[in-house]
Parts: sequence; C-alpha cells; structure tokens
Amino acid sequence: MDDAPYLAKVDSVEFLVGSAKQWAYFHEKAMGFSPLAYAGPETGVRDKVSYLMKQGDVKVIFTSYLNPDSPIAEHVRTHGDGVKDISIEVPEIDRAVVEIGKRGMIKPGKISTQETHSGKMRVSVIPTYGETVHTLKDFSDSSNTLPSGFEPIEGKSHGTGIGKIDHIVGNVDDRKMDSWAQYYIRGLGFEQLMSFEDKDISTKYSALRSKVVHYNDRSIIFPINEPALGLKKSQIQEYLDYYKTPGVQHVALHTDDIIRTVTELKERGIEFLYTPGSYYDALHKRVDHIDEDLDTLQKLNILVDFDEFGYMLQIFTKPMGDRPTFFYEIIERKGGRSFGKGNFKALFEAIETEQNKRGNL
Ligand code: FE2
Repeated sequence: MDDAPYLAKVDSVEFLVGSAKQWAYFHEKAMGFSPLAYAGPETGVRDKVSYLMKQGDVKVIFTSYLNPDSPIAEHVRTHGDGVKDISIEVPEIDRAVVEIGKRGMIKPGKISTQETHSGKMRVSVIPTYGETVHTLKDFSDSSNTLPSGFEPIEGKSHGTGIGKIDHIVGNVDDRKMDSWAQYYIRGLGFEQLMSFEDKDISTKYSALRSKVVHYNDRSIIFPINEPALGLKKSQIQEYLDYYKTPGVQHVALHTDDIIRTVTELKERGIEFLYTPGSYYDALHKRVDHIDEDLDTLQKLNILVDFDEFGYMLQIFTKPMGDRPTFFYEIIERKGGRSFGKGNFKALFEAIETEQNKRGNL
C-alpha cells in the first residue's frame, strides 16, 4: 500500500434542504458567505437547484428539488434540512479508488467524468453513516473547483471572519461509534486522535461517547459521537430521533478572531447557546493568562478549553433548521488541539436547557 496521502481536504459540504434559495440567503446575510455559483434550469440542470457559497476556504452547497418525486424531496421529508455530502478533494482519483479498494473495507463507486464550467471533474462516491456520503472529487482537469452544472454568479458578501473548516462531527447509533471509527481508520487510512468516555462527557441527565479520527496530520478531522445512557435522553439520541438516521451533527468553522466573528454573527441574528454564569466564575479560577478579556467572552458566551499545547475558544449555535439536528460551532485555536472536553459539561447543561424547552429531556 502506498503511504503518500491520497485525500487532500474537505472540498465542500452539501446540504439537501426545503428551499436552497432561502438557505443561501441566510448564509449570505447572516453567516457572511459569498455566493460563488449556481446550478438549476438556467444552467441546464432540470431537476434541482443548487447554490455554492464560500467564505475563506469554506465551501457549502445548498440543494433543493423541483419535483415531488425527486430523491432529494424524499431526503428532506425524512431528515429535514441536513448534510448529504461531505465531499473530499483528491489529487488523483484513480489512485484514491485503488488505495481504498486495496484496504478491502469500502467499495468506492465507479469513477465518472463530468463536464464542468471550466473543464472536467472526475468523481467517485463512497457511503458513510446514515444516508451521508463522501464524494471524492478530482479537479485536476479543470481550472477551478466548480462542480458540473454550476455557473459562476456575481455576489460579494461582507464576511464574518470564518476561514476554514476545523472538523465535522457525525452522530451514529448507540454502540456503533467504534465500527464507524474503524471505517475511517481501516477503510480510509485515518488515525485515531482521541476518545472520550461517557464519564468525561456527561451531565446528571445525558451523556455521549466520542472518538476523533483524522487524516494526514489533521488535514481532515471527523469526530464521531454515539449516545450514552443517562437519567434522561442523550442529546445524540434526540438528534437521531429527529434526523431519523445517523448524520452530520455539526460543522466547526475556524476563525482567527472569535470575538469579532461571534459579535458580527450575533448582530446579524445568529443565535448561540447560552452558557451559565457559573461557568465563567469557575473559568476565572482556572485561567492563568489568555489574550482575550474574560468579561467579553462571558458577554458573548464563548467557552475556553486548555490542553498542553495551548488553548481554544468555542461557541455553538442553536440548530440551523427547524428540527433540533444540525448546528455550527465557531472555533478559534490558540495552539490548543482539543475539542473542548473541559467544556462538555457546561455545554451539555446549556444544550439540555434547550432540549428541556422542547419537552425532550
Ligand atoms: Fe466540535
């Protein structure tokens, strides 16, 4: 087996939604993404409409259906608005498919060549948890990374400082976390970064277990959660109950200035989870020195976590759609490599406050 990396990075995250136009507008006006390209009847795509949006290196695609018998309509009916495809850019798709095939666990789909706006792209689809897929995309015969069917559109939004994807989290069924971690490790050549037991990540009521896998020195990071038993329903189980299958729980978006980003997002109407004041009382005691003013962090509800490499700051939005399923995390790493283990308890108490309001605790 060739050891050179055959996956480059996450190319884009595609959501299947009830109204692509509304999701695109929301991401432009509230999240600060710029419209980059459009696909639909005007560009020769007869059965669906898609908007490709970009901020920093982050690309998201919102796709909706035009006919009730579309599989996209069925996906939206079952899951609500959610992530279908975490596509991965590959430098050389023939080699990627051979390497994955040699590993013997995953059978990649047949490579197809598609005409694009500026050349050709070659793709192969591999399935992952639930109905989620990874489309492997090779753009080496194209002068840009617009997928087939897309035409560039004008539009420049005022950004909010979001720069890149830090990690993308999947929620899977109880007792399935280990096999999905192995899917990435044995099937695709990822390595395990860390794992959390339910005693690390539990509140009085609900709990989860999590394993983090990464590819090629953190070029791609996929944490995988499963529900654990608590006195009340796990937040992961609530997700599964509403999404109906395993799926993507959150995308963590990295910024170099979390105070600016969160301030702007709040001004534009993005709602974040509340963090109890007691969290900051405790933080004052355990912090030596950080660059940020603690009162500002408290005002914005930003969480802080430390490890031997430094620290990181994070905050979670409320769900983006109508069902309590997909949300965003905003994260800034100041050397810290953690995923907020020290914050799980505070965070889950905040999530449970919301879960309780929905009568699901
Ligand atoms: Fe996260």
